[in-house]
Order: sequence, then structure tokens, then C-alpha cells
Amino acid sequence: MTAPTVPAAAASAGTETGPLLTARDLSVSFAVGSSIVARLRHEERLLHAVDGVDLEIKRGEALALVGESGSGKSTLARALAGLIPPGQGEIAFEGRLLPARRSRSDQRRIQMVFQDPYSSLNPRMTVGSMLAELLRVHHVVPRSEVGSFSRELLGLVGLEEEALSAYPRQFSGGQRQRVAIARALALRPDILLADEPVSALDVSVQATILNLLRDLRRELGLTLMLISHNLAVVRHLCDRVAVMYLGRIIEVAPTETLFSNPQHPYTRGLLAAIPRISAGTDVEPPAVQGDPPSPLRIPTGCRFRTRCPIAQPRCEQEDPALNAAAGDPAHSAACHFAFTSAPPAGAAGIAGIAGIAGEEQPSPSQ
Ligand SMILES: Nc1ncnc2c1ncn2[C@@H]1O[C@H](COP(=O)(O)OP(=O)(O)OP(=O)(O)O)[C@@H](O)[C@H]1O
Ligand code: SF4
Ligand SMILES: [Mg+2]
Repeated sequence: MTAPTVPAAAASAGTETGPLLTARDLSVSFAVGSSIVARLRHEERLLHAVDGVDLEIKRGEALALVGESGSGKSTLARALAGLIPPGQGEIAFEGRLLPARRSRSDQRRIQMVFQDPYSSLNPRMTVGSMLAELLRVHHVVPRSEVGSFSRELLGLVGLEEEALSAYPRQFSGGQRQRVAIARALALRPDILLADEPVSALDVSVQATILNLLRDLRRELGLTLMLISHNLAVVRHLCDRVAVMYLGRIIEVAPTETLFSNPQHPYTRGLLAAIPRISAGTDVEPPAVQGDPPSPLRIPTGCRFRTRCPIAQPRCEQEDPALNAAAGDPAHSAACHFAFTSAPPAGAAGIAGIAGIAGEEQPSPSQ
């Protein structure tokens, strides 16, 4: 890949030391059973998809967001991207609070790449017209430079110039995801939120797209939040990992710290679900049982207590905060017994959550 002259806004103005993107007590709820009949019967209920998330993303880092299906990862990403209004809480960009209705320039800075590249592209527009429209609407480059900039974007994602005159249906799945990435990069974002960007692709092309994201990060100084079920990929690509459970971040740490010293019982369960990662540990932990509770009925106290093999009476009463380790501010966990030397009395260990790592596990090449 040639050195890009299409930099993301990474080197542009902003606080270099503070977080790039911050979520504080962020919540997103959906009204379910919202038909007239349900409302008349007082059956409308709130589904708490994201429920009090605190998260910071630093400029230039690759942060992984992991957790079981339905834990709220996509909803959180959409809220961060401004595609869903949060019901509660704040989102700040470089320390500046973002309003619910974002300006065009704020929309540009946070872009998403979705799981299914086909449904995220307009099937009736050629790639060239799609990119040109975007560049014009957002005044990214002068009109006279739209063509050359579009060609440059395609080069960045490894596509030939001929792709400009093609429609999405004429590409393979991997190529379509390249187009979707080019479209996101067209707006010169500071941060890319990639929501399972390869899980809809053939295993054979998954690694190439992941490697493309890795290269783009390096070359453009792009900040990346990668949502993935694939912990091997996460370990390979990401600097930090945030673990989500039932709408909330329950552990966050630098990647190697999380893999070598997980503190939350749920995180231990996730890691133990991958035999290659749990192999070699001294204690073989028992299973985390059952399915996660419905986000319509989040348990009182600790939300993980209904599945936690070391739950104590206190866990039913007190909701544990996401607190940092005394000696390691980069590692936080939301468990009353995190960072303690001994587990609570009667505690058993933790094992895998069946199916949590059920996605194909390609190993991106080095
Ligand atoms: N538009 C919506 N209306 C109602 N409920 C929704 C809506 N979008 C998401 N949900 C619910 O919110 C919860 C979180 O969903 P979300 O898609 O964010 O989870 P996820 O972690 O991305 O899951 P997956 O790994 O399967 O993609 C789920 O219970 C889901 O059913
Ligand atoms: S607070 Fe209690 S229930 Fe929650 S994870 Fe820790 S030990 Fe388990
Ligand atoms: Mg999702």
C-alpha cells in the first residue's frame, strides 16, 4: 500500500493527551411492546440495551469491544456514532460534549463499518457516484479533486480504479467490505467503529480485511473500535479490550493484561471458552451456566450474579462500580472481588460460556 495522501483527521487539532471519545453513564433503551394495544394495556416496557456505560477511547489506539450476543455492543457503537440518540448520559469528543443532533463535521469524525457490507451500500449507485456524492455533500475536497481523491481512496483499500464504475452487486463480499471501508474513510474520520466487519465474509477473506484495517490504522493513525466475537483476532489487533455484559462494560484492560490476568468472572469465562487460551492455566475453572438474563429484567445488584459461580449475598444488594486496580489504573473491573488476592469463601472457578466464541477463528497473518 502506498503512503497515503488521504490522511484521516488524526493529526488535526485536538487534545493529544486526553481521550478522543468518551462515554459517561451512557444508556440506550428501546420501547418494546409499543403497539397501541400494548400501551392501552400498560404493557410497553423498556429494554435496556446499553445501561450506564463508561468508556474512554484514546487517540490512535485499537480498542476491542467483546461480549455475548445481545450484550449491547452494536447499540453502543451506534450511539457513539450518533446513529441512535442516547436516552441518558454523555458522549464527548476530545472533551467536548456532542449534542444529540450532531453537526456534519462531528458526524464525519466518527464513522462506522457494518457487519454486512451489502446492506450498508446503496445497490443503485456505482462506487464512484457513491463516493462523489459523499465527498460533495460533506465538502471533503474541492469538486475538481473528487475524481482523484476517489481513486486514491480505492487504492488505500486495495481496489483498482475500475471499481469506480461498478455497482455493489458486482463485487465479492470481501471487495464490498473494502468499498464500505473506503466510504467510511472518505470522510476523513478520526475514529472507525467496526462492528464485526468480517463475520459475514468467507473465512478465506476475513484475514485480508482484518489486515487491511491493521494497515490503515498504522498508515493513517486511525483510532479503531473493533467489535468482535473472535478473541484471537482481538488479541492480534487490539491494544485494549473492553468486555460488555448485559448493557455495561464490566472489565477493561490492555489486551495482554486482560488475557493473562482477567479479574471479572465473566471475562474469565469468555477466555476459558477458547481452549488455546485457557490451556496451560493451573486451575481448570467450572462452567458459567445458563443464558444471560433479558435486558428487560436486569438483575438487581451485580447484573452477572445470576450466572456467577462466586456470587455472595452482597452481590444481590450492591451494584459493583467499574473500579481500577490500586496499582494499575489501566485495568478496571466491575466486581466486588476483583483485584483481591483470594476469591470469596465457597468460590469456585470459572469456565467457558458455551458458544461465546462460536464465530470462525481466522488468524490474521503477521
Ligand atoms: N431497535 C431495537 N429495538 C428493540 N430492541 C433492540 C433493538 N436493537 C437492539 N435491541 C436489543 O438490544 C439488545 C442489545 O442488542 P445489540 O444488537 O446491541 O447486541 P450485540 O451485543 O451487538 O449482539 P450481537 O453480538 O448479536 O451483534 C438485544 O437484546 C437486542 O435484542
Ligand atoms: S460482584 Fe459478585 S456476582 Fe458480580 S461478578 Fe463479582 S462475585 Fe460475581
Ligand atoms: Mg451486534
